[in-house]
Amino acid sequence: MTRLDKQPPTKSDLLADAVRISRLAGKLLKDRLLTDFAIDHKGEVDIVTEMDRSAQDLIEQEVLLKYPDHGILAEEDLHIQGSDGFHWIVDPLDGTTNYAHRFPVFSVSIAVAYRNDVLCGVVYNPVSEELFTAIRGEGASLNALPIRVSKINSLNDSLLGTGFPYNIRESSHTNLDHFKEFAIRTQGIRRCGSAALDLCFVACGRLDGFWELNLKSWDIAAGALIVREAGGVTTDFEGSALEMDGSRVLASNGHIHEQLLEILKISV
Ligand code: IPD
Ligand code: CA
Ligand code: CA
Repeated sequence: MTRLDKQPPTKSDLLADAVRISRLAGKLLKDRLLTDFAIDHKGEVDIVTEMDRSAQDLIEQEVLLKYPDHGILAEEDLHIQGSDGFHWIVDPLDGTTNYAHRFPVFSVSIAVAYRNDVLCGVVYNPVSEELFTAIRGEGASLNALPIRVSKINSLNDSLLGTGFPYNIRESSHTNLDHFKEFAIRTQGIRRCGSAALDLCFVACGRLDGFWELNLKSWDIAAGALIVREAGGVTTDFEGSALEMDGSRVLASNGHIHEQLLEILKISV
């Protein structure tokens, strides 16, 4: 093998593979949606289906076939360290509760990072066949057409997205306080059930903002890049840089970001 053969993959190469793999996993999920798959409980309201694991197995096999030295962090207990600094951050099925109820709103979320930098991301909804993508520094797209965040500049005129943590029955940090505050100040709030799609909906202007707590890196790695590359802003609830652990996630079109932060200052 020559030195040339060892060139690291480009961002475009990685995106093309992430798109191909997300389409394979998405097809599997869609094909099995109305079949009789097994459902297990991780917690009282936190479930996992046989299909979360099947989609993850497929993604793991495809990534390692092409990139045996890459790491993978994926929701269903998969953490492969890798050896060359590249790693894939994967939610094989974002929207498990929807999926288990055959509510057809869910996605496959795949980001590829080099060390701490997310280079590209894909969020694919196989039911609507909407494929959201971004490459760092090169913009964001929906089905290959460029997308931008909305121009709404007042909370009063905004439509927001959010979600609630799985430990809502036990924790005092439920998000219900913030939900109430935003509900009376906006045109409405949507709880779509897939945080990755919520972020993409901010990116393409269907939502003007999104907030949630207790998310994980696999929920946000792809979607947050897609928001930023579509001209939006992502921070924590204090306005500081978004932490990839997903514990406090705020994304917006930028124009209403300060107004959102004002409300989020009210403690939960
Ligand atoms: C969940 C979804 C949901 C959000 C939850 C997430 P999962 O991911 O993104 O919208 O509200 O907090 O955990 O479990 O369906 O992959
Ligand atoms: Ca998820
Ligand atoms: Ca998941």
